[in-house]
This record gives sequence, structure tokens and C-alpha cells, in this order.
Amino acid sequence: MSTPHNSALQGQIAETVLLPGDPLRAKFIAETFLEDAEQFNTVRNMFGYTGNYKGKKISVMGTGMGCPSIGIYSYELISHFGVKNLVRIGSCGAFSEDLELFDIVIGMGSSTNSNFATQYHLPGTLSATCSYELLKKATHVAAKKGIPVHVGDIFSSDIFYFADPEEWKKWARMGILAVEMESYALYCNAKWLGADALTILTVSDHLATHKETTTEEREKSFTRMMEIALEL
Ligand code: HPA
Repeated sequence: MSTPHNSALQGQIAETVLLPGDPLRAKFIAETFLEDAEQFNTVRNMFGYTGNYKGKKISVMGTGMGCPSIGIYSYELISHFGVKNLVRIGSCGAFSEDLELFDIVIGMGSSTNSNFATQYHLPGTLSATCSYELLKKATHVAAKKGIPVHVGDIFSSDIFYFADPEEWKKWARMGILAVEMESYALYCNAKWLGADALTILTVSDHLATHKETTTEEREKSFTRMMEIALEL
């Protein structure tokens, strides 16, 4: 049976799903990296595919932007379709002076200005974190392939265009490396439902230096991140 947002049938989605924000990126990944890829979802154009990579079944599906969107898709993937490993692959804005454009950041802890975790009625503040198992695997794969990565904390923001353009500096002061918009909901859903999740990001812009990448550059740089994600 399918869900309101995902028309896949049971068994059509692999236990490991790569999650780019952009559904057209999911299509590109399926066509470029997977063998015998078959599309399982077209609802709202949030394309999803399952294929084979080095003989192993793997899926890739878009999430859309922001915690509400990835919150829906990741919840259904885990609770309804039995997905065990969810690997977000995306871009981020760098806070840290140690980061350059195109560097790869693996998000260990995710801090947020989102209300996503209020649903759990926790008597405090939740630290949303990645799966240690997936993090360990990712750093191992990166080291083996000679791909440098920065492992650290990221900020999952509900806001892209801030009224106060300096606000990010307070998060940077806490050692947060970079900003994106989806990891917090993904990590919450994974913990709540008992799955493993990880976020792998490529730096697409820098908040301190105001350097930016072009769309074309982003498409190329993304291959190194994929090399790590596909091995998980
Ligand atoms: N803010 C939020 N998300 C992002 C950014 C940013 O500057 N860059 C890439 N994803």
C-alpha cells in the first residue's frame, strides 16, 4: 500500500535511500550511477527510484526543502516502507573559516531554530544527532578513497533569508560548521522510529566570505559526495 505522498508499493524501496533535496537530482543520480533503475514515485514530482549499485539494491528520492518536507518523506520511508538507512546528500552554507567552497561536511550533530521536536514534549532541548554507524562507515569510505571530509555540527534552519544577516555568527561561535535546512527533522525521525540517518553536504556558499558556486560547478563537485554516499 502506498501513502498520500509516495505511490511506491511495498518492497519497491531499498533499505538504504539517498535523499537529495532536489527531485531532479534524484533522477540524475538514478540515471548516472544506478543500474536497472525503476521509478517508484511521481507524486508531487518528488521522484524516487530504486536500482543497483555494485550489485546492491539502493534507492534515491528527493525530499524538497526544509524540515516539514523532509519530515514527511523520511517518516513515511521508515514507518511505511521499512527503510533502515537514510543518507541526505545536499549543499550547505559554510560558517567556519576552515571551510572552502566544494569542501565536504558530514553533519554529526544538528542544531536548529525549527519546532520539529516540540511534538515529543521532551522536558528539555533535544540534541539531534546522526547515526554513529553511518558516520563511521562514511569516514572510513572517505579515507579509503582519499576524499577529505570535515566531520562536525551543522545548523538546520527554517529560514534561508534572515532578517538579521549576522544571526548565523552566534551559531558559528558554538562551533557549528555550516547551515542547511533538513538534517534536524531527518535525525529526529530516524531516532524516533529507530532507523539510521546521516547528512553529507558540499559547501555551495560561504557566509563569511560571500563566495558562491555556480549551478554548473555544484553539479560537478557533487560527484565526490556521491562516491561516499553510494558506498553506504
Ligand atoms: N542557508 C541555508 N541552506 C543552505 C545554504 C544557506 O546559506 N546554502 C546551502 N544550503
